[in-house]
Amino acid sequence: MNNTHINIAVLVSGRGSNLQSVIDNIENGTIPNASVSLVISDTKDAYAMERSKKHGIDAIFVDPASYPEKAGFESKILQLLKDYNIGLVLLAGYMRVVGPTLLDPFKDRIINIHPALLPSFPGLHGQAQAFDHGVKVSGCTVHFVDEGVDTGPIIIQKCVPVLEDDTQETLASRILEQEHKIFPEAVRLFVRGKLIIEGHKVRIVE
Ligand code: GRF
Repeated sequence: MNNTHINIAVLVSGRGSNLQSVIDNIENGTIPNASVSLVISDTKDAYAMERSKKHGIDAIFVDPASYPEKAGFESKILQLLKDYNIGLVLLAGYMRVVGPTLLDPFKDRIINIHPALLPSFPGLHGQAQAFDHGVKVSGCTVHFVDEGVDTGPIIIQKCVPVLEDDTQETLASRILEQEHKIFPEAVRLFVRGKLIIEGHKVRIVE
């Protein structure tokens, strides 16, 4: 049993419903020994910032426009992560590809949620890509972040069937329901030290 407390930072760009699912699972005791200590947004008016403040969590806007290069922007974020003694970084609707400035010091400690069954439909609008392709089953994926776009080792996936009368919106909303389950579950497993990365595979040791 791993009882070390982990400070989590969540990087966001928008709505923040996945951030909310992690906060709720920490507050209700499902994820013990962890707190969301910091939320960083690259968007000034992200609703995720409001959510954070409601829970007394520091929410900081880092303006990408203030940095001519990505490395400078990520150095600012890295400094904040160090200031808050962060042990795990979550990407929850964060609309940027993470570069080496953040990846190297946080190797195997950055986790992303993606709204499709990877490796299919990476990048933007995974739900819409899958819907337009005509797949019969889609879903969502939680994975460790590597240098690619949605290419890192997969932690958990959940299938969501595509129904005959689905629209992009109805499919996306059923996928989101599952995101809100598997994202906190992956965080819980990480915090408890249950995720072992072996090559490109993640073994879950319960
Ligand atoms: C989710 O669909 C997530 O999978 C994707 O971006 C969306 C973010 O939604 N990466 P929210 O901000 O967590 O509500």
